[in-house]
Amino acid sequence: MSKIIVLADLHGNMTAASAMENEISILSPDEIWFLGDAVGKGPQSAETCDWVRKNCSRCIGGNWDYWMSDRNITYKDNDFFREQLGEERLKWIETLPMEFEALISGIRFRLFHGRPAADLVQGWDNDDAMGKFFSANGKIYGGIICADSHRPFIRSTHMGYAVNTGSIGNSLGVPKAHALLLEGELDRDEPAPLRMTILSVPYDNEAAAEIARRTEGLPSKEAYINEVLTGVYSR
Ligand SMILES: [Fe+2]
Repeated sequence: MSKIIVLADLHGNMTAASAMENEISILSPDEIWFLGDAVGKGPQSAETCDWVRKNCSRCIGGNWDYWMSDRNITYKDNDFFREQLGEERLKWIETLPMEFEALISGIRFRLFHGRPAADLVQGWDNDDAMGKFFSANGKIYGGIICADSHRPFIRSTHMGYAVNTGSIGNSLGVPKAHALLLEGELDRDEPAPLRMTILSVPYDNEAAAEIARRTEGLPSKEAYINEVLTGVYSR
């Protein structure tokens, strides 16, 4: 039985990442996988980028990561975050693929961020809308694991399981740090039991907001602070 933590959307919030790190150290997983958006929005993009590089064995990029890198996708707030990150980190971000797959307990999962590999996957999408995400790369997958919506969910659809890790640093809905714990048989074709658990970890939201307040020039600062404190999308 392998124990894997899948996480995403740290968004420069090291206060939340540190709280999740404590929980991860207690759970002691075999691997940690990253599903995109290490950077942007929050004030500590360099730190959360370094945390991902140090701790995660499989990594993909999210829409914010790609906005920072040189992929001809421009965004008005690029300059602030690019300066924080520096050339070496940006080069690493540019190497990130958009998706990977994993065979767990007999289910072939497609793991991707959401945008830009596909559309934003929301927990309230109906089964028919979810269906298109299971077909990609000339394959039909038995499950999808994504992020991007910043809200965790575990759904059973007529195509298979649809799972979202939620966000570490910029949760919408409940403003705690979220991640996904998978316990199953990795790289195994035969069906076997699989546990899927949403980790919900409280952190010091006010301390995270205060770091943002003190960060001069942080783009959309008030929106970020409000999201961290309330979980209400504010952009
Ligand atoms: Fe995100």
